[in-house]
Amino acid sequence: MADAGAVGAHEEDATRRDFIYIAAGAVGAVGVAGTAWVFVDQMNPAADTRALATTEVDLSAVEAGQQIQVLWQGKPVFVRHRTADEIASAQRDDYANLKDPQHDADRLLQADGAAGKPEYLIIEAGCTHLGCIPTFAEGAYNGWFCPCHGSVYDTSGRIRSGPAPENLYVAPYVYLNDTTIRIG
Ligand code: FES
Repeated sequence: MADAGAVGAHEEDATRRDFIYIAAGAVGAVGVAGTAWVFVDQMNPAADTRALATTEVDLSAVEAGQQIQVLWQGKPVFVRHRTADEIASAQRDDYANLKDPQHDADRLLQADGAAGKPEYLIIEAGCTHLGCIPTFAEGAYNGWFCPCHGSVYDTSGRIRSGPAPENLYVAPYVYLNDTTIRIG
């Protein structure tokens, strides 16, 4: 029969062991968190690198009916100044049978959620099929046409026919003032 003193000592040992395990676990967790922070911090780019990750565009240089192509993080982006007809066509088709349904106004939203301007559509230029660069004012919807495999986008950059699965991606942008945007 175990004597009461031995049982008490055993329980005390067990309690002390649990404490040691718990304490070690806590130190381990702090250690992992500390290590993770070092990795994350090393992955955060310096301010000058972040600046290169953004592109500012002067919209006043783009007339209605024109578009320019700028580079953002090495990717081509269309900055299109849409005509009244292009805007009307894009809005009229908000309720059309779309492969990737999206309203035109939602495709103009700025990165911070503020409304954009109907005149300026800021979209990545890579076709969502295999990345070719579509040309404008071709195809049945007077928007973009991808010559690689025939995808057709409308004046909102929404996919209307062909193999591309999604709309042209809206680039994350904000207005810095009335005529300047920053992409990224
Ligand atoms: S890459 Fe554009 S349709 Fe295939």
